[in-house]
Amino acid sequence: MIYRTLGNTSEKLSAIGLGCMSMSHAYGQPDDKESIATLNKALDLGINFWDTADVYGSGKNEELISKVLAPNRDKVFIATKFGFTNTENGMSFNGSPAYIKKAVEASLKRLNIDVIDLYYAHRIDPNVPVEEMVGAMAELVKEGKVRYLGLSEASPNSIRKGHAIHPISALQSEYSLLTRDPEKEVLPLCKQLGISFIPFSPLARGLITNTLNTENLADDDFRKNLPRYQEEYRRNNQNLSSGFAEIAVAKNCTPAQLALAWLLAQGENVIPIPGTKKRKYLEENAGCVDVNLAANDFENIEQLLKKYPNTGARYNEAALKQVDKS
Ligand SMILES: NC(=O)c1ccc[n+]([C@@H]2O[C@H](COP(=O)([O-])OP(=O)(O)OC[C@H]3O[C@@H](n4cnc5c(N)ncnc54)[C@H](OP(=O)(O)O)[C@@H]3O)[C@@H](O)[C@H]2O)c1
Repeated sequence: MIYRTLGNTSEKLSAIGLGCMSMSHAYGQPDDKESIATLNKALDLGINFWDTADVYGSGKNEELISKVLAPNRDKVFIATKFGFTNTENGMSFNGSPAYIKKAVEASLKRLNIDVIDLYYAHRIDPNVPVEEMVGAMAELVKEGKVRYLGLSEASPNSIRKGHAIHPISALQSEYSLLTRDPEKEVLPLCKQLGISFIPFSPLARGLITNTLNTENLADDDFRKNLPRYQEEYRRNNQNLSSGFAEIAVAKNCTPAQLALAWLLAQGENVIPIPGTKKRKYLEENAGCVDVNLAANDFENIEQLLKKYPNTGARYNEAALKQVDKS
């Protein structure tokens, strides 16, 4: 494994992290035995940057991770997030100082640790000034409950405002070959401010790996409700992922490795967190650090994306409304 530095700190994080969400949430049935084996394999491979959130499996994901994290505390840099709550009317978001105080205690308890390395606001709460929310998060740093702060899906304006209150070490947003939105403003801003950019869903939730059959998604699979995985976009996305797989074959790597290598090449401050609950994928994804892209590889990939532009939106309208535009 190779390592990259977190924001303006001296923390060394594996250039490829481990997204733990799918171990308890969103994509298919949990398999705790294989998930635990995957976490142990991550230790063996030197993948020390693990990502979870309190909402994944309504706390179950943090509890599952704690089984490997707590006994190996010095080997893992753990990131978790607060803010989403499940209500009768679906998901809502709470970024108030009073809620943050309760949420951090609950995460520490479930993770079975004394301090969270990186604590993210999962979204920006439109009802709470970002300065107030980051101020409350900074209190947790003073109290020793949290070491570094992060934001997720925050607008450039919110990033600037938050960073002025307390250094923001990481910004986590969706970024992959199929979701290029951060390139316009957020990625350059993070580079300028010395903030690590953490792409979530870096494999387009499995789509770019050329192994996902969107026709066979289970009814409770989160992707079932996202435009990009619907019938309307199937042909385009199948052509795109099989074309991408051909480029990968020519590079002697897998599509997942090529997609992750492409992200790593977007900047030294970029640290993708591909998600998996399987050892075989974890090992494969870690191999991306050995893939080097030449100028014509980037060109070939851009040409392919131009050929198949009808990929569909990453979120449905309700979820897009929760994305910070302030
Ligand atoms: N901040 C946010 O709002 C937010 C939102 C979404 C995700 N996240 C974080 O980002 C992490 C990664 O995102 P993600 O899990 O949504 O999407 P992803 O990493 O783009 O894709 C995960 C999917 O791809 C599959 N996969 C992984 N490696 C593969 C490989 N080499 N070949 C074939 N398939 C492979 C996984 O299968 P298996 O599950 O079967 O292993 C899973 O279905 C999450 O785990 C979570 O920690 C954050």
